[in-house]
Amino acid sequence: MSVDTKQYVNWFRHSSPYINAYRGKVFVIMLPGEAIAHDNFYNIAHDITLLNSLGVKLVLVHGARPQIDEAMAEAGLDIKFHKGVRITDSHSLPIIKSATGSLRINIESIFSMGLINSPMHGADISITSGNFIIAKPYGVHEGVDLSHTGQVRKVNHEAIHKQLAGGHIVLISSLGYSPTGEIFNLSVEDVAAATAIALNADKLLIFGSESGILDQDGEPISKLSADEAQALINEKLGDNGIIDDLELKNLQLSVKVCRATVKRSQVISYEEDGALLTELFTRDGAGTLITQESYEQLRTATIDDVGGILELIEPLEEAGILVHRSRELLENEISQFTVVVREGAIIGCGALYPLDEQNAELACMATHEEYRNHGRGQLILERIEQNARKIGINRLFVLTTKTPHWFVERGFQPSNVESLPERKKQLYNYQRNSKVFEKTL
Ligand SMILES: CC(C)(COP(=O)(O)OP(=O)(O)OC[C@H]1O[C@@H](n2cnc3c(N)ncnc32)[C@H](O)[C@@H]1OP(=O)(O)O)[C@@H](O)C(=O)NCCC(=O)NCCS
Repeated sequence: MSVDTKQYVNWFRHSSPYINAYRGKVFVIMLPGEAIAHDNFYNIAHDITLLNSLGVKLVLVHGARPQIDEAMAEAGLDIKFHKGVRITDSHSLPIIKSATGSLRINIESIFSMGLINSPMHGADISITSGNFIIAKPYGVHEGVDLSHTGQVRKVNHEAIHKQLAGGHIVLISSLGYSPTGEIFNLSVEDVAAATAIALNADKLLIFGSESGILDQDGEPISKLSADEAQALINEKLGDNGIIDDLELKNLQLSVKVCRATVKRSQVISYEEDGALLTELFTRDGAGTLITQESYEQLRTATIDDVGGILELIEPLEEAGILVHRSRELLENEISQFTVVVREGAIIGCGALYPLDEQNAELACMATHEEYRNHGRGQLILERIEQNARKIGINRLFVLTTKTPHWFVERGFQPSNVESLPERKKQLYNYQRNSKVFEKTL
């Protein structure tokens, strides 16, 4: 088997837990007009088709800003805004209807492609549009009438769920209808958020121009809680309090949906081929994930956490599950600990001890009894593995007396004392007789 084939098989095998987890779940995908205009949109459409084939229930919400701007310019009309919101007067509404309608038809045609040499061959995709969005006027603001610019009033989630149950992909444009028969121009962000919340979606996937949200140094941030994301927005917000940066808008949108009913929101780049699949099917992802759990934090421990860690591990030490650590030792090693903090209390911990340049030991893994079986142990392990990789470690050992299966189920394999680096071998406690496991990172 060639190296490429091996890698492919390995990747495919590693995707299977995700495939099982996503089957039957509802994902709302926000596609701004810029994403549809981009050359990469065909690849995005293929990847969306693939998700549909795997049994994910998909709702696509598309915008049309650049397409509308172009049509307005062609018609010789000025685009007017009030505080960042587009004003839709009676001259621009027909142009907006036509640009949005035409884009929707183009999207439908792309999803209907099934040429023999295209990745969508044989996929037989059915895509449905409709009057799912009920809108109301944005109204008069500071004396300015925004006319046909509207806001989402309600989402007909039952009708959408029926379409999803029939295996159809639902396509929603950023236009809405009022019970009085009027048509309103809506923002794609408003429609995507309202739809994801009304459907109780498992995920809102947002296509932006950047690979997720960048930190102060321009580096992508892989994961944020809704509270952390809000803090970042507050930090970056201008004096006028208006968010005009597109990526910040996406972050705000994520916070909004996560604080409502949506479990996770993910921001990825429409410019990067394969970003959707990488984000969904690999551990490290390709964008920024924003999660609901805002009251818990996973972070490196500080000296103030020593007391909390001791409280957590002492009962386990007494039961002989963990090796005893004195306060002094903990204080010295505190920066090697990762902790889960909930409302100020330490409810989970784990430590990474480098043994030499390539080998390290994972130790002192514990979750408070009341908080077990909710994936916290897994999160600590993932963070420790990530930290280990960052410093060039490629083999992680764990010594355990009572918890071998937990580690084996997470990729560790039986090893032995002889495989341990010399330093650790000399310290091995034969009386305790712990089993040795190792994992290649
Ligand atoms: C091991 C431990 C850290 C896991 O923490 P957690 O936050 O519950 O971990 P997760 O939620 O990610 O994993 C829970 C899963 O592991 C399983 N599990 C728990 N203990 C296990 C064990 N000893 N052997 C095998 N599986 C175990 C649970 O049944 C659950 O399975 P499920 O998801 O199929 O229901 C926690 O049980 C603990 O603190 N144990 C005591 C200390 C310990 O043994 N530490 C390791 C020694 S180094």
